[in-house]
Amino acid sequence: MTTIPIPHRVAVVTGGARGIGLAIGQWFLDHGYRVALIDRDAATLTAAVDKLQGERGHGLVFGLHCNVADPEEVNSAVGQIDAAFGRIDALVNNAGIAVFKPIGETSFDEWQNVMSVNLSGTFLCSQACVPIMRRSSLQDGGGIVNIASISGLRASTLRVAYGTSKAAIIHLTKQQAVELGTVGIRVNAVAPGPVDTEMAKLVHSVAIRSDYHDVIPLNRYGTVEEIAASVGFLCSPAASYINGQVIAVDGGFESAGVGLPTLRKMKA
Ligand code: NAI
Repeated sequence: MTTIPIPHRVAVVTGGARGIGLAIGQWFLDHGYRVALIDRDAATLTAAVDKLQGERGHGLVFGLHCNVADPEEVNSAVGQIDAAFGRIDALVNNAGIAVFKPIGETSFDEWQNVMSVNLSGTFLCSQACVPIMRRSSLQDGGGIVNIASISGLRASTLRVAYGTSKAAIIHLTKQQAVELGTVGIRVNAVAPGPVDTEMAKLVHSVAIRSDYHDVIPLNRYGTVEEIAASVGFLCSPAASYINGQVIAVDGGFESAGVGLPTLRKMKA
């Protein structure tokens, strides 16, 4: 009987119970990593972990119920990952929430909540994982990828909290890249364009969807697999000299801007 070796490398993905985070977890499993999925939605997390373990066997996937905005919960979850897997090669700070409201209608609670999950969660999970990452040799690739958004690259109505949190994640990425690069941990950000997930369904109306199709040169939403592949690439040895960068995975939205409607109608 042949024994299948347990993969060496370990990836941690926050917000991994569904959507983009789950697809990122699957990418790592497909590429020979053990994966720890962190999420605060216990029921969805359990279902996702059960399904992955059913498909791929036990020992490769670990689910941790944790709110990334709570320092004690984060430290406890990362301690459990260290105890179970003994190393961390890649961390993807993907957990995020969106509130789309005008400035005057965004309550202080909503502002603080978005900042604490999106921005503080990224800070806290990185701070907890880095000492473990420093113990591992990251020569096989690895590092940190923070999930930002096109809303962090340019301002847009209704995104005062969400857009500001994502712009801050982009700067945090650069701060981390500068400091952690010196100890061999690369840190980059992926800024997705619109992707059909539960989050997008909540905040993208029919009119918004149609507008996105109009202004995105590729004329469509992205898929979770496309975002996962870009994150995976940044964690791979192929990206070994990429540090402190923001990659917009957005079908060309960032390059084109809103453009001129009349010119957009003229096809190449
Ligand atoms: P989603 O809402 O489908 O999944 C997010 C996951 O994060 C959920 O499982 C949720 O339970 C978890 N989560 C939320 N707050 C948490 C917390 N405090 N602690 C632990 N887990 C928490 O969202 P989606 O679309 O998969 O988004 C993932 C990331 O991609 C987010 O950071 C989002 O801002 C970003 N993004 C998404 C875009 C889209 O169009 N879907 C576009 C640009 C960026």
